[in-house]
Amino acid sequence: MPTINEILTTMDYGPAPESTKEAQAWLELHGRAFGLFIDNAWTDATDTFASTNPADGKELAQLTQATNDDIDRAVAAARRAQPGWVALGGHGRARVLYALARLLQKHARLFAVIETLDNGKTIRETRDADLPLAARHFYHHAGWAQLQSEEFADYRAVGVVGQIVPWNFPLLMLAWKIAPALAAGNTIVFKPAEFTSLTALLFAEICVQAGVPAGVVNIVTGDGRVGEAIVNHPGIDKLAFTGSTEVGRIIRKATAGTGKKLSLELGGKSPFIVFEDADLDAAVEGLVDSIWFNQGQVCCAGSRLLVQESVEERFLAKVRARMDNLRVGSPLDKSMDVGALVDPVQRQRIHGLVESARAEGCTIYQPSCDMPADGSWYLPTLITGASTSAAVAQAEIFGPVLVAMSFRTPAEAVQLANNTVYGLAACVWSESISLALDIAPQIKAGVVWINTANQFDAACGFGGYRESGFGREGGKEGMYEYMTALSEDARPAAPMVEAKGKSRAVAASSGNVFAIDRTAKLYIGGKQARPDGAYSRAINGADGAFLADIGEGNRKDIRNAVEAAHKASGWTKATAHNRAQVLYYIAENLAVRADEFAARLAAMTGSADPHKEVQASIERLFYYAAWADKYDGLAHQPPMHGITVALNEPVGVIGIICPNEAPLLGFISLVAPALALGNRVIAVPSEAHPLAATDLYQVLDTSDLPGGALNIVTGSADELARTLATHGDVDAVWRHDGSAEGCAEVERLSAETLKRTWVGGAKGRDWYDTRQAGGRAVLAHASQVKNVWIPYGV
Ligand code: NAI
Repeated sequence: MPTINEILTTMDYGPAPESTKEAQAWLELHGRAFGLFIDNAWTDATDTFASTNPADGKELAQLTQATNDDIDRAVAAARRAQPGWVALGGHGRARVLYALARLLQKHARLFAVIETLDNGKTIRETRDADLPLAARHFYHHAGWAQLQSEEFADYRAVGVVGQIVPWNFPLLMLAWKIAPALAAGNTIVFKPAEFTSLTALLFAEICVQAGVPAGVVNIVTGDGRVGEAIVNHPGIDKLAFTGSTEVGRIIRKATAGTGKKLSLELGGKSPFIVFEDADLDAAVEGLVDSIWFNQGQVCCAGSRLLVQESVEERFLAKVRARMDNLRVGSPLDKSMDVGALVDPVQRQRIHGLVESARAEGCTIYQPSCDMPADGSWYLPTLITGASTSAAVAQAEIFGPVLVAMSFRTPAEAVQLANNTVYGLAACVWSESISLALDIAPQIKAGVVWINTANQFDAACGFGGYRESGFGREGGKEGMYEYMTALSEDARPAAPMVEAKGKSRAVAASSGNVFAIDRTAKLYIGGKQARPDGAYSRAINGADGAFLADIGEGNRKDIRNAVEAAHKASGWTKATAHNRAQVLYYIAENLAVRADEFAARLAAMTGSADPHKEVQASIERLFYYAAWADKYDGLAHQPPMHGITVALNEPVGVIGIICPNEAPLLGFISLVAPALALGNRVIAVPSEAHPLAATDLYQVLDTSDLPGGALNIVTGSADELARTLATHGDVDAVWRHDGSAEGCAEVERLSAETLKRTWVGGAKGRDWYDTRQAGGRAVLAHASQVKNVWIPYGV
């Protein structure tokens, strides 16, 4: 019996090209020159640049480089159209989205061919993956539009959204962006990538056919400068970006302090883990889909193969044999596996990275197969012998290049998998469901595919951890990215009680040992700690009289607190029931000392009814204890034989700058949800009224909260926030002390490691109102969704 490889190598393929006749006719119809689509009308093509077919280098059409004036007009059109689009109602919008889905299906072949011509990806992929998935997104979101008034009753559309996408999945990224935005009632200024704008322009035409009202979808073309103009436009309420981490950082900085809502889907260096008990042949096929799909130009490509040492040789031999059978060539040929790279620039970049690995002594394997003479091509490549710190092991290559490494134990696999700044996706291959489900939660990534790869569905959220960005696309969580809670509109314009600027805190630097001894210390790792700088500040009461000294925390104290938080990983692993018990216990101990806390609050703030705040704080602790074991994820049933489990995982270590208003209740309202979901916290209490928090030390000591789960550092909110926002091991920073500049700074500084942020800006918040200071919106900030795909059967 011949082996499958022998059969494959002896089989001959005849050419099976897809016709481009219809696509060429469409380009001709437009005179091979496109303007912008604004307010349901085309502008003239001006200041144009060429869009080429990467498979042969030939020009397809001329596209317009939009100007700042064009962006002004597109934003204005979207703004004008937004109230009408909302007024159409959920059902009205659902009908339009449904029509878009139907039209995508009707013209699927034309879309697929244009996408292949424009991008270089194979027709098999555009026809069988991109188009069906794009249509599915519109169908699914027609459903969310229909259900909006029921499922999102407490939310409204954000307004005008700017959307910027890359070139690797031009139409699919458009669908991921436009469908949820429209469903929620937003209007759009959309920019495709400069290499691949054609399917977006064709989509503009079906918008008209589908009855999308003028101004609801505006499509502007051009390079990064157009993206920049959208990002910086004051008329944009929300930005959704997919692309490089580098540009994601620029956008995070540019939007800091503007109040624009932001979601970023960025790069990845995703691990593909093969355990010794995996079905190795199936894993090889998974690997082909993972790294050679779309020439590896996939943000969630499984570009790091981690294979258990005992099967490494056998597995790599199978991979090489499979690589020898991959067919590289004309993307329009239905029998090709690997098409052209999007542009020669990408080829140069990939070539440079592979050659640097060769120079470092790595082994490079490439099959010997024919490639077309013209166009932008790169052979499937396997790199072995790279160190974990090598550029090819760390950088997103964004090409058909796989870097293989081995591991011995599951723990080492997890450690290697997480040895990256990214966290977009991972694959785990093992026939042991117990092992696979043990590994999946340990991997820091937004998506984990078990015994499968690169699966997507509109019902299952997609998005990253760490420097792969934040926000989700798809699923219910993706809808929230395009909505604002009505309770946000109800927030008071300024902090209700006492703004930070009115703080009576006086910096009293003193080396006096006696004074330090009387100072309320910091709380780090479950112990009271003297501030590193040996400085203190005096806190005066409402009547101006001295109340107490507090420790002046500094950078070193924050670093110690972060270290303690990282050591307290047991809190994250504790059961939700356990965490709830601890929160109840804190509430109980606070209740015992209610009079003492009320007296302290009265002395600090002059509150006439301090007991109200203490009782509300006790209730808030009960509230989040209640939520701790109820904020469950979901089990999605996407169109595959299996389930996708959406888990609400903690974000990690969160730095929280607490409000000055309601200093006890505000503190508890932010710290408790973070703890409830298993995060570890470094809290900076109210700068003006910190003593309610420092009085909590003894309550915490007697409440079974493990040391390091909650650390409290008093001092300057600005200085401590700065340190938290720039610390590499802090995963999120929240700031709610009413300081607009401070909030902007947190957002700006957090861009370096792309931390999640939740800032309150200059507005106040009624901390007594659970709609403003509680609910799922707060829990969503304290968690990130991980989708674990678990196919079963055969
Ligand atoms: P890019 O991030 O520069 O471009 C993505 C989109 O952003 C394009 O529409 C572009 O015009 C726009 N853009 C560029 N600069 C901008 C700015 N300052 N403000 C707003 N928008 C801006 O990605 P590019 O240059 O196409 O590819 C470079 C590398 O990025 C790739 O080699 C790959 O490593 C990575 N990449 C990752 C993607 C992912 O999905 N993770 C997608 C595309 C690229």
